[in-house]
Amino acid sequence: MIKLESNINTSNQEFLNNKQEYLKIIEVFKQRLAQTQSGGTPEAVLKHKQRGKLLARERISLLIDAHTPFLELSALAAFGQKNDAFPSAGIVTGIGVIHGRETVVIANDATVKGGTYMKETIKKHVRAQEIALENHLPCVYLVDSGGAFLPEQDTVFPDKYDFGRFFFNQAQLSAKGIAQIAIVMGSCTAGGAYVPAMCDETIIVRNQGTIFIGGPPLVKAATGEEVSAEELGGAVVHTSISGVADHIAENDEHALMICRNIFETLKVTHRQKLDCKEIEEPLYDARELYGFAPINLKKPIDAKEIIARLVDGSKFHEFKEQYAPTIVTGFAHIKGFPVGIIANNGVIFSETALKAAHFIELCTQRKVPLIFLQNITGFIVGKEYEHKGIARDGAKMVHAVATANVPKFTVVVGGSFGAGNYAMAGRAFEPRLLFMWPNAKISVMGGEQAANVLITVKKEQLTAQGKTLSQTDEEQLRKQILDKYELEGSAYYSTSRLWDDGIIDPAETRNYLALGISMSLNKPFPEPNNGVFRM
Ligand code: COA
Repeated sequence: MIKLESNINTSNQEFLNNKQEYLKIIEVFKQRLAQTQSGGTPEAVLKHKQRGKLLARERISLLIDAHTPFLELSALAAFGQKNDAFPSAGIVTGIGVIHGRETVVIANDATVKGGTYMKETIKKHVRAQEIALENHLPCVYLVDSGGAFLPEQDTVFPDKYDFGRFFFNQAQLSAKGIAQIAIVMGSCTAGGAYVPAMCDETIIVRNQGTIFIGGPPLVKAATGEEVSAEELGGAVVHTSISGVADHIAENDEHALMICRNIFETLKVTHRQKLDCKEIEEPLYDARELYGFAPINLKKPIDAKEIIARLVDGSKFHEFKEQYAPTIVTGFAHIKGFPVGIIANNGVIFSETALKAAHFIELCTQRKVPLIFLQNITGFIVGKEYEHKGIARDGAKMVHAVATANVPKFTVVVGGSFGAGNYAMAGRAFEPRLLFMWPNAKISVMGGEQAANVLITVKKEQLTAQGKTLSQTDEEQLRKQILDKYELEGSAYYSTSRLWDDGIIDPAETRNYLALGISMSLNKPFPEPNNGVFRM
């Protein structure tokens, strides 16, 4: 493979200015992350600790193998919503390694509104289970939750992907032989009781964990019976009378150890084999990405400069280098794993879409995971291009992306606008993981374009009524739309609503992608659906 040579001058003023600005963006990101990961209010954290309980993230670090990373997902879920009363949406999810096995961990944070589930909590839980299903990863549920956040029952209870979906998913996962293990480390009330009850194997902590369909106040109101929580559904009841749980633990640490022991008994699974190489560091420092990562999306950046800082030895075997240069396609390795990379290098024309579709087919035939680096304003517009059938050629790319049956991973490095988002494996196209850089922007179109479209529509409406739009009204409308798009297009807005799996530091992209690829190998890749159509 050819080594990419960077044309970036790291001492040039433009690079230094961008880097200085970008370091501020990183600083804000890290502050927000640290604040969020500290969990609920200091009072709630203190109360939790005084009860002898470990915090959600402490539990996870004892559960997973020592010195292995935990790939936390959507840490900033619910950020900026509901007065930030739900840090991380009150639940920690991610992928960690237990006895060498990549596992999805779903841990309630009881310091956040008693670990109850609001809309984003539900979305995060369901998304983690989806990742388990797509990649055949066992699940561990660290349960410590008051169940549904009752004031907002209409957004958490009845719909297809609401609370009930947890149990449907558990049954589906278990039926596919994907282990489901729960540790009841606190409250587990009402519908929540089904999380441990639906698991293959369940552990409960003495004098701490409780499982009941209706808690003591509800029982009293319904039947008049007075009963303590422990008598109704504590650890002794469930491990010696009801049989709802299988193992009793003395405390959090003991429970986590029992869970690790269970992992030693799980069945052996077969991983997809890839032609892996020795790991090599890229020739260029990943932190150089700060010097040209697009803060101003109008400024074009050379996709190969990003690739040179992500792939092993900065080695890249480019496909169709001379053809349709607004997309860069080629093979490389990331931490030894072979990958096919598709990176935007400008707007998508017909030939761009065809080149990408052809390359996707090569990757599916060769069983090589696909990485999409999104920085896309969209498809080319205009009469010439419509006449040439941009919609038909674009559809070929979208079709190839949708049906590619190798794992896909998407990183939004700049803009993600319009149908470009779809063609580049946006959320709807089921990449195994999708990350945003903190500078990234996502919306149906750019704010300025949206403002121009809406002003044109308004003017045409008024003209039809014999009226005109005043300059002041036009400016006011423009400002309203620009402000709205600026807010809603931000990576924080996206990650808060789980349109992605998290915001990541660009310098960490390589690590996230390697962990993602490794995780995806737990489910062998199916055979390709068709041959390679030369477009
Ligand atoms: N819906 C909405 N808010 C809830 C809640 C629920 N189901 N359960 C707890 N909360 C809130 C509390 O109002 C409190 O909010 P605040 O911090 O703004 O004051 C916070 O969560 C912590 O609750 P608190 O009772 O002080 O904490 P705790 O650790 O002593 O007890 C629970 C936590 C979950 C065991 C307890 O609150 C409880 O039993 N809740 C009801 C559970 C239930 O019946 N759920 C039915 C779901 S279908």
